[in-house]
Amino acid sequence: MPHLIAPSLLSADFTRLGDDIEMVNRSEADWFHVDVMDGVFVPNISFGMPVIKAIGKVAKKPLDVHLMIVQPERYFETFRDLGTYCLSIHYEAVTHLHRAVHQIRELGMKAGVVLNPHTPVHVLEDIITDVDLVLLMSVNPGFGGQKFIEGAYGKIEKLKKLVVSAGSSALIEVDGGVDLNNAGKLLAAGADVLVAGNTVFGSSVPAHTISQLKMVGQ
Ligand code: DX5
Ligand code: ZN
Repeated sequence: MPHLIAPSLLSADFTRLGDDIEMVNRSEADWFHVDVMDGVFVPNISFGMPVIKAIGKVAKKPLDVHLMIVQPERYFETFRDLGTYCLSIHYEAVTHLHRAVHQIRELGMKAGVVLNPHTPVHVLEDIITDVDLVLLMSVNPGFGGQKFIEGAYGKIEKLKKLVVSAGSSALIEVDGGVDLNNAGKLLAAGADVLVAGNTVFGSSVPAHTISQLKMVGQ
């Protein structure tokens, strides 16, 4: 499967969000990455339901929603109603992960689990066949434009081994500090989906940067 690119709208220009969404619609990007922060799980607040509803009205590609909030179960139905394709919740934010993942799937969404940089991959051993996606954080969540943490490569390799040995169909997504220099190495390590915020929206021609990310390793 060719790898997927998910531009993170956190780095979009919110004064002209519609234009940035249109750019992604017309680009070679595959998904919209939507970062939801509550100021409790992470030390930042991003945007909430009214904004995501507006995004959903113009976005023509699947919404890949990354919840950085405590007790995410409170909002599963809401995110389904907002048109979420894949809903990812943090391992560190949920006590009953198995139940939560199945609730997401029963609502008709793909279920993703996110690991912070300090959380080892092996904690997913007993749930890897229940999830559709694992999102590995390659920065500490909360902000765009941070420095990539090199330990991510080894985690991707370990996760890839776990996915293959368990016969899981989970995709491996990487989020944080992804750029044109590390994308090739991330894909070679086993990543299937690359999130990119600052690299895309901070570039002079974002659609071209998306094409370049899409072409890496081809
Ligand atoms: C960080 C978010 C990321 C962020 C990535 O908490 O989960 O999705 O937008 O931004 P960059 O690609 O700029 O590191
Ligand atoms: Zn994210």
